[in-house]
Amino acid sequence: MVLIPLEDSVVDVLNKAQKASRLSDAELAIKAGVTLEDLHRIRAGEPLEPCLLRLAACLSLGGVALVQLARKAYCPMAQAVEGLAQFNTHFGDMTVNSYLVWDLQSREAVAFDTGANAFGLMATVRKNSLQLKYLLLTHTHGDHVADVDRILSDTKAEVWVSEKEPHPQAKSFAAGRVFEAGRLRVDTRSTTGHSPGGTTYVISGLARPVAVVGDALFAGSMGGGKVSFADALETNRRQILTLPDDCVLCPGHGPLTTVGEEKRHNPFFPEFQSLSTST
Ligand SMILES: [Fe+2]
Repeated sequence: MVLIPLEDSVVDVLNKAQKASRLSDAELAIKAGVTLEDLHRIRAGEPLEPCLLRLAACLSLGGVALVQLARKAYCPMAQAVEGLAQFNTHFGDMTVNSYLVWDLQSREAVAFDTGANAFGLMATVRKNSLQLKYLLLTHTHGDHVADVDRILSDTKAEVWVSEKEPHPQAKSFAAGRVFEAGRLRVDTRSTTGHSPGGTTYVISGLARPVAVVGDALFAGSMGGGKVSFADALETNRRQILTLPDDCVLCPGHGPLTTVGEEKRHNPFFPEFQSLSTST
């Protein structure tokens, strides 16, 4: 799989955390003990470490992880799991991911989101002689569901989405429902916060546990709380970071990562990180 750059920069992370704190620039600067000028220099891309550490403490972020992002020193290890494919498509000025998993024996497959278009996903279905059984939606933001029509016209797949975020072309489920495709089992967990019905799909039956998380969590960041930032943080902690450390995480934007790497490097979860700045 191609390694996609991180979705969010240190500035994006700071902006999301500041928005959640409801502090103005002037209030944040005073509370953190930095000057407004330094805040602006950080926004312009200068990795001013002492200031970043003060801002991190003020915004409940991991200081070490934030400095690492500012230094552009975090890049999650490339992950490859047989029976898992990632598709990265352009949607306006951004890119978005969709995913496919399949049972190597029965060839039954499950797709997660469509991205901007499902050309690559459908090509992989055909190339591997797969039978697409389900299209499961992580949420219904336009970049994730842009090509549902193609899946419906080209396959017999059933489309499903959380009952908290209905979609006209999808059936609705309550979190906790289980989907099966051959020997694969897909458990559904509510990761509400970024969107009302945001769902994380936990797949077992491949060589490693895999979770498709949509925009709940990104490598080195998270999707932000369009509905509730507090809920987004809490559901990430409870529903995603409790998975095994070797669980491969498949975000809606940016590269694949793992639970273990995000515990060590994601600034939104400082409780897992050491206080040392030397690593
Ligand atoms: Fe989204």
